[in-house]
Amino acid sequence: MFIIGVDLGGTLIRAGLFTEAGEMLDREERDTLAAEGPEAVISRIKEAVFHVCDRQGIDVRHDQIMGLGIGCPGPLNPYPGVVLSPPNLPGWEHIPLRDILSEAFNVPVYLNNDANAAVLGEYYYGSSKGTNNLIYMTISTGIGSGVLIDGRLLLGENGNAGEVGHMVVDVNGPVCGCGNKGCLEAIASGTGIVKRTKAKLTQTEQASPLRDIDGFTARHVFEAAKAGDPLAMEIVEETRYYLGVGIANIINLYNPQKIVFGGGVSKAGDFLLKPPLKSPDRKHCQVLVKGCSLSGPVWAAMWG
Ligand code: BGC
Ligand code: NA
Ligand code: ZN
Repeated sequence: MFIIGVDLGGTLIRAGLFTEAGEMLDREERDTLAAEGPEAVISRIKEAVFHVCDRQGIDVRHDQIMGLGIGCPGPLNPYPGVVLSPPNLPGWEHIPLRDILSEAFNVPVYLNNDANAAVLGEYYYGSSKGTNNLIYMTISTGIGSGVLIDGRLLLGENGNAGEVGHMVVDVNGPVCGCGNKGCLEAIASGTGIVKRTKAKLTQTEQASPLRDIDGFTARHVFEAAKAGDPLAMEIVEETRYYLGVGIANIINLYNPQKIVFGGGVSKAGDFLLKPPLKSPDRKHCQVLVKGCSLSGPVWAAMWG
């Protein structure tokens, strides 16, 4: 029997085919193109899954598949498997994604928050086997977390515990996709970084190489900052500051042994995360940033 895993993100859809032991046999990635709305996105999920299974000669509808697990940006309710109204999936309002997919594939489907699924992945199969007090924090199109306390996933009343991206870190800050003001996500996510940079570019006459890049992303902002562009440097400095505020709050609230960072923006690695992780109150917490030079568990204290 095989297992299908899907990660539905604000920017990318990823589908993987796994053995029961958790070994990945094949994977496929597509653009989410979230602006096109739920129907188009759901058909891209189906395509990706069918494609990856076809390639491996596996019939999705047949009894070869044990089940499909899908991680999705919240808020969502994992119990009925309904996506509520994620800030980064425009037009999604109470979409019964679990039932839609289990009908399409005729296999059992499990829906959970993307970061919740990720923390379970790190705990059972990934970097942090047996770390009973573990947080996975994603800094991507949005910001979210999965929180494992005493070896159990923290869910809350309807599965939405750990929404650290919507923690208010600046009461007068920019408006978030969730409607609130000054959420960490509105400031430090990929979309938040781009929005703040665009605002700064229109508010000032200051020269910046970013003015010449159509549709620049957070990665371009980091590159410009590394190259010494003062406007980009200011944005990165603010981002680090608010990430530091957020991470300190998270550590105080949950008392994790370890935080694993993932998501596209976290790939900026040391450049983005080293300063916010340096302060002394974060010393007791082990930090791992996936897929960057900080990888391999490092004690934050070592950077102090
Ligand atoms: C959502 C979280 C999600 C994060 C990353 C946030 O906007 O509220 O549930 O984990 O984005 O996708
Ligand atoms: Na979560
Ligand atoms: Zn918010």
